Amino acid sequence: MPLLTDRFARTHRSLRISIVDKCDLRCTYCMPEEQHFLHRDKLMTRGEIRTLAALFVGEYGITKVRLTGGEPLMRPDVVEIVRDMAALPVKLGLSTNGMRLHLFAEKLKEAGLQHLNISLDTFDAERFRQLSRRDGHGRILANIEQALELGFHVKLNMVVMRGINDDELLRFVGLTQHRNVHVRFIEFMPFAGNKWGRERVYTYAEMLGRIGSVHAVEKLDDDPHSTAKAYRVKGWKGTFAVISTVTEPFCGSCDRLRLTAEGKMRNCLFAREETDLLTALRNGDDLAPLVQANVWAKHKMLGGLPAFQPDTQQEVLHGLSTRPMVSIGG
Ligand code: 5AD
Ligand code: SF4
Repeated sequence: MPLLTDRFARTHRSLRISIVDKCDLRCTYCMPEEQHFLHRDKLMTRGEIRTLAALFVGEYGITKVRLTGGEPLMRPDVVEIVRDMAALPVKLGLSTNGMRLHLFAEKLKEAGLQHLNISLDTFDAERFRQLSRRDGHGRILANIEQALELGFHVKLNMVVMRGINDDELLRFVGLTQHRNVHVRFIEFMPFAGNKWGRERVYTYAEMLGRIGSVHAVEKLDDDPHSTAKAYRVKGWKGTFAVISTVTEPFCGSCDRLRLTAEGKMRNCLFAREETDLLTALRNGDDLAPLVQANVWAKHKMLGGLPAFQPDTQQEVLHGLSTRPMVSIGG
């Protein structure tokens, strides 16, 4: 019997699937210095990803799937996985750091991918090296150009950190003047091992103040389940949006579920509990009660953490899940 409870059908439309926990960058806000990666046989296989995704789409009303990592393009069978997902009746996207995009861009397009989220935090090569602890900035910039030329719908994600890259905000907004690019400014969020401090969060209000002091900005309509608040500089072609998880969380309208690369289901980015669907699948167990229990256990706000404000900083840091962002999936 399908378990399409009202609650599920109303509130969960979007599934993020991490297909590998490895990454070829080591961004300071995402990956701890000492990070161990999963052994291959712990990862979901292509077939298992297909089975679980089909279950969520067929039984539980999921209509959006986003493939994430780590870095999904680290996985040799990523094109085949994309082809499998594109065969489902979903809006399909993939989040990438752009480093290896030139190796896959055309094949991903042919396989049916249309939406790409590409991380870009800076236009400065030296700053990139400090932030991501790797080289490759020029390659990423070229790959973003290529993705636009190939006709992908491209969102550029910038994690804005005070004193690190907040001075580049207007340069990123400038990208939207002549091109159909969608820039998303993300408040710096706390995860295990990422040295978060509330004072390093460059806030939504500060971003809008800074941009609004230079440009005439108009608010755009947001999708009811969108996590981003969208804007446009009047008359410009692209858009920008802010993901204000820290200062204005949007948990009440969040419709996302997550699967980690080893097949653990998470009902929130900040969840402290997980449900091991892959082991159950491999054992031939019924997944329905597990999925249902996971969904019902979702906390009202921030996975049950206190608000991410200066006076609760210690409590937040203390309460975080031990899983770093790189293995949760963006
Ligand atoms: N804060 C905000 N966003 C983050 N991401 C990763 N770590 C953080 C963090 N600490 C997002 C980035 C990246 C995607 C993979 O996850 O946008 O592009
Ligand atoms: Fe950076 Fe994304 Fe890799 Fe994390 S997963 S280290 S944010 S490129």
